[in-house]
Amino acid sequence: MLYILDHRLIEKICCGNTECIDIYRGVLDDLGREIYIAANTSTYTHHATSSSRCLNMYFSKGYSSHIYKVVIENELYILKVRRHDSKRETLYIEGKILEILNSWDHSPRVYRYSHNYILMEFVRGVLFREIVGLFRSRDHVYKIMPYLESLIIALCELDSMNIDHKEIGFPYKHVIYRDNDPRKPVIVDFESASISTNTSNLSRFIGGTIIRHLSSVIDLDNNSLINYMRNYKNADQTARKRICLDLIDYLGSNISL
Ligand SMILES: Nc1ncnc2c1ncn2[C@@H]1O[C@H](COP(=O)(O)OP(=O)(O)OP(=O)(O)O)[C@@H](O)[C@H]1O
Ligand SMILES: [Mg+2]
Repeated sequence: MLYILDHRLIEKICCGNTECIDIYRGVLDDLGREIYIAANTSTYTHHATSSSRCLNMYFSKGYSSHIYKVVIENELYILKVRRHDSKRETLYIEGKILEILNSWDHSPRVYRYSHNYILMEFVRGVLFREIVGLFRSRDHVYKIMPYLESLIIALCELDSMNIDHKEIGFPYKHVIYRDNDPRKPVIVDFESASISTNTSNLSRFIGGTIIRHLSSVIDLDNNSLINYMRNYKNADQTARKRICLDLIDYLGSNISL
């Protein structure tokens, strides 16, 4: 089902809130072309207000933004619109970081951005959360390994590009495997990201996900993992690549046991 994003629809999405209406009108003016929101019945719901004039039709509702699947000139995109009640003052930095990463395979292509919105590629695929959900049992956990391997390499690359995602310790909704392909992780939501020479993408992922969440199904020696991370932190770029590959070997040999 497609709904044209026009002034009438904006009134309904914003439920009469003028700050919100200003944001959406600005997005519409800036994009300057016909935009359709692709909503299905489950995302197109009425708020329970007495007037019943307000609509929820987003693909995802986050703390800072509403995410829409939109159609522009017959192509599907993701439109991330800043919520007027968000603590985040701007999406510009996220847009800028996506622009820096535009030729990298593991972030969504960005097409336009401003303080209040980002128009980017719609990444079709399966979330990290779904992969863990599918294979999170001792009998099947080895099937996670190809997904971990490609993600670890991507995080090492992100570290080497001096971009700190900051939320990748908990990547369940932030990693989408393009076309369900375990070799193609795409990292989304660079909203808290920054440019830094002291990045910690890999360490956060190992600490937050492997040690904290997967250690109940994979028998890993946490001290070995902590050692890998300690060496990685102190190593130069060439040595870091080696440590990433060694870490993948270590995980692979333990997970397939
Ligand atoms: N380019 C994209 N392609 C496909 N799905 C996407 C894309 N960008 C975001 N999503 C989906 O929308 C969800 C919310 O996006 P995002 O995390 O950027 O918004 P947010 O407002 O920061 O949300 P949160 O408060 O949960 O962090 C993501 O977890 C992901 O499932
Ligand atoms: Mg976010």
